[in-house]
Amino acid sequence: MQTTYQTQQTQLKFSPRTWLITGVAGFIGSNLLETLLKLDQKVIGLDNFSTGFQHNLDEVQSLVSAEQWQRFTFLEGDIRNLETCKEACANVDYVLHEAALGSVPRSIADPITTNENNISGFLNMLVAARGAKVKRFVYAASSSTYGDHPGLPKVEDRIGKPLSPYAVTKYVNELYTDVFAKAYNFKTIGLRYFNIFGQRQDPNGAYAAVIPKWFSALINNETVFINGDGETSRDFCFIENCVQANILAATVTDEAATNQVYNVAFGERTTLNELYRLIQDLVVPANSAAKEAKPQYRDFREGDVRHSLADISKGRQLLGYEPQFSVTSGLDKAAKWYLAKLR
Ligand SMILES: NC(=O)c1ccc[n+]([C@@H]2O[C@H](COP(=O)([O-])OP(=O)(O)OC[C@H]3O[C@@H](n4cnc5c(N)ncnc54)[C@H](O)[C@@H]3O)[C@@H](O)[C@H]2O)c1
Repeated sequence: MQTTYQTQQTQLKFSPRTWLITGVAGFIGSNLLETLLKLDQKVIGLDNFSTGFQHNLDEVQSLVSAEQWQRFTFLEGDIRNLETCKEACANVDYVLHEAALGSVPRSIADPITTNENNISGFLNMLVAARGAKVKRFVYAASSSTYGDHPGLPKVEDRIGKPLSPYAVTKYVNELYTDVFAKAYNFKTIGLRYFNIFGQRQDPNGAYAAVIPKWFSALINNETVFINGDGETSRDFCFIENCVQANILAATVTDEAATNQVYNVAFGERTTLNELYRLIQDLVVPANSAAKEAKPQYRDFREGDVRHSLADISKGRQLLGYEPQFSVTSGLDKAAKWYLAKLR
């Protein structure tokens, strides 16, 4: 039997739509772009290259046909500018809003810039998308919204208080979409991503995520630092599961499924110590020196939650979300990419 995702993909190929991806030059945005172009969709992409890269777009171009690439229009611009958002939303069916400044520590270091991008920029996109009468506005929410709520696994309607400025911004996004649903009957879906990883996630810079950073360190014989005792755990989710959730959220027709938020995760918990061993095992065949590498433990990081694990049953029920990649099968694919790029 076909999964809901397979059915939707077939329908999209048969009847292509116009999509706007904000943050298209970033990690998640460029993966959404690759999948949508491979499904022969028309895509508009918006990015200001603050944390995204032209080389991500170039790589997508190399992975699709010339004909598919022609269906892509890139706008270099900033969501903090309302006119830019309006231009980007014109004649669009579905918006996938990924543009934001990620990273908890970045937001602690500079809450104002995070707020401007993630709240003012978000509101501009909401206003522009509503004005353009798009069919659906899907946006990147975050597991950080669970904040200090101790419950595990995390269920969508049980959240705590935010632990960082970043978490505040992502929660405010949810509040705004709720109000837009009530005040204007505008249809949105928020996807609370849980530590997404995979190809094109940036391994460099002070705010790099743990998986790309560790691949890079072990490939290049640099020290891996573990914040805390390594027993901190996360629900790591491979990018292709995240792409699936976005496409399902944009195309779901059941009214009850809209104006909701969903966990996007695999539904399993991996500790940092376990993650280190998994990545090490994948790097050793290509770099035998990594076998002797030992991680260095340092202080816990401010604003981090201790454990994170998602209940993904709501997405399963209402969207037909069925993650196809486990942590290990996702890491396998990610390793191939990092070894090809970083060696
Ligand atoms: N990667 C994860 O694990 C994760 C987890 C939870 C939530 N998210 C959210 O998912 C989204 C995508 O994250 P990502 O990991 O791909 O990060 P990323 O930094 O690779 O991508 C973000 C993209 O948005 C662009 N951008 C930022 N501010 C912009 C602005 N003002 N105008 C136009 N473009 C702008 C950046 O240049 C970048 O290309 C973000 O909203 C992030 O908060 C990601």
